[in-house]
Amino acid sequence: MNPAIIPIGKTFMSTGLPLFAGTNHRVANLEESTITFGRKEIELAEFEMPGLMKTREEYGNTKPLAGARITGSLHMTIQTAVLIETLIDLGADVRWASCNIFSTQDHAAAAIVQGRADAAGIPVYAWKGETLEEYWWCTLQALDWGNDVSPTLIVDDGGDATLLIHLGYEYEVKGEKPDPSTASNEEERVILQIIADVQDAKGMNYWHQFAKTVRGVSEETTTGVHRLYQRMQDNSLLFPAINVNDAVTKSKFDNVYGCRHSLVDAVMRATDVMLSGKRALVCGFGDVGKGSVQALQGQQARVAVTEVDPICALQACMSGLEVTTVEIALEQTDIFVTATGNKDIITAAHMSKMKHNAIVCNIGHFDNEIGVADLEEMLIAGDVEKIEIKPQVHEWRFLKSTHGPNNGPHSVIILAEGRLVNLGCATGHPSLVMSASFTNQTLAQIELNENAETIGKKVVTLPKALDEKVALLHLSKFGAELTTLSTDQASYIGVTPQGPYKPEHYRY
Ligand code: NAD
Ligand code: ADE
Repeated sequence: MNPAIIPIGKTFMSTGLPLFAGTNHRVANLEESTITFGRKEIELAEFEMPGLMKTREEYGNTKPLAGARITGSLHMTIQTAVLIETLIDLGADVRWASCNIFSTQDHAAAAIVQGRADAAGIPVYAWKGETLEEYWWCTLQALDWGNDVSPTLIVDDGGDATLLIHLGYEYEVKGEKPDPSTASNEEERVILQIIADVQDAKGMNYWHQFAKTVRGVSEETTTGVHRLYQRMQDNSLLFPAINVNDAVTKSKFDNVYGCRHSLVDAVMRATDVMLSGKRALVCGFGDVGKGSVQALQGQQARVAVTEVDPICALQACMSGLEVTTVEIALEQTDIFVTATGNKDIITAAHMSKMKHNAIVCNIGHFDNEIGVADLEEMLIAGDVEKIEIKPQVHEWRFLKSTHGPNNGPHSVIILAEGRLVNLGCATGHPSLVMSASFTNQTLAQIELNENAETIGKKVVTLPKALDEKVALLHLSKFGAELTTLSTDQASYIGVTPQGPYKPEHYRY
């Protein structure tokens, strides 16, 4: 770990790190070879991210983000590095943390701390393999700009940065100090502790002042967007929010085609298991599930799905898939993938009945789709053994079972400890698809910077014209030739020749 931060005074839990790091950074290492590798991969990625590069060309001179202070809580990958440098080129000051303990690409983080010949580096707080305590410490550092300065804008992925601000604010309203011993899980305990420590250090007005400065948040993913709509419904949303996920050029591309690339990439890097012929069960046939199924079918795996929604279940049937339940499929399945954004999908009880060496992984946002927390409790009770094959690949042996080899214990192989497998065991989605997602993020940040007051404390999506623009920016990369509508044709289908080409209710 680089020594940029010298702990003085009270440190946060077992991290040994001061509660507030000020203007410093913290990444895995800043060796020249790591920085050079990061910079080279950023340059390769730029060529594959035409949307972001054209956005730099279009807005680089007018600097619509001048004066903005942007805090990012989103996987610190090479693709995110290109997003960060786009925001900087548009005039913003930026600080960043990852939104997952395993997703940071350390060379990307190092290159961003170092900066470019024409732009200084920025403070990044992220490394691959953070503990939960380090993770929440990093999130706090990205949010706090030092000297009681807070961000004006937030880029969030999954809603953790937004959650910390809102929880901190709510405890101030109640005039209460959170009690970590009341937490129902380890992560909640850490969150309550960090809020309590911030109260001790800064008093009862820190998050109130903080929320006043924030003009808005743009949220990347399905799960984070759910949280935002819940807050809008119960009137607890503290600032405007843009739902980037539901731009068509995000969820119908990143969630589907991105996962189609990165799911099998991760399973193969992690296990090297032959996928063809294996029975795979994908839980959830939404956007991520659809991409995951296509990827496994591409490897000629025999795929089935589980669903709760009859529409998605019918779509699966019409795609030639078996629709079943986890319980029915349990004993025949070789590879389990959760993609629901829901909790308790594959439990420890399920895993206790699985085939020997069944692979279990999750591609949904949080780690509660698979019952790893329950396995941890069984570990303490001595009912299972956890064997590290390599980082982010673990064999869990069920010591009391008798359906393993020679009537002995069976094992399951859990990837990325039940967290996002494509970012924990591989490098996430490739640049081209992230270009579409992050062009939407950049447009959302400009919109919040310029029009937060018009949006109000609501969750909105970007206008369809911008969605179409994001698609257009990527077409030349494929050598695609668009057909131009004549005025007569346009009026016949009720649009203008320049678009938008579809009504709001169209589903793609
Ligand atoms: P979605 O809403 O389109 O799909 C989720 C599906 O799961 C829905 O069809 C729902 O009916 C189904 N479902 C819910 N509970 C279920 C249960 N108990 N059993 C079976 N099916 C169930 O959402 P999405 O866009 O596909 O996102 C899914 C998750 O993936 C979210 O957490 C999202 O944030 C995350 N995500 C991850 C990545 C990544 O790179 N790993 C990318 C995008 C989204
Ligand atoms: N989400 C999925 N893949 C990603 C990537 N490569 N970078 C950032 N966020 C991602």
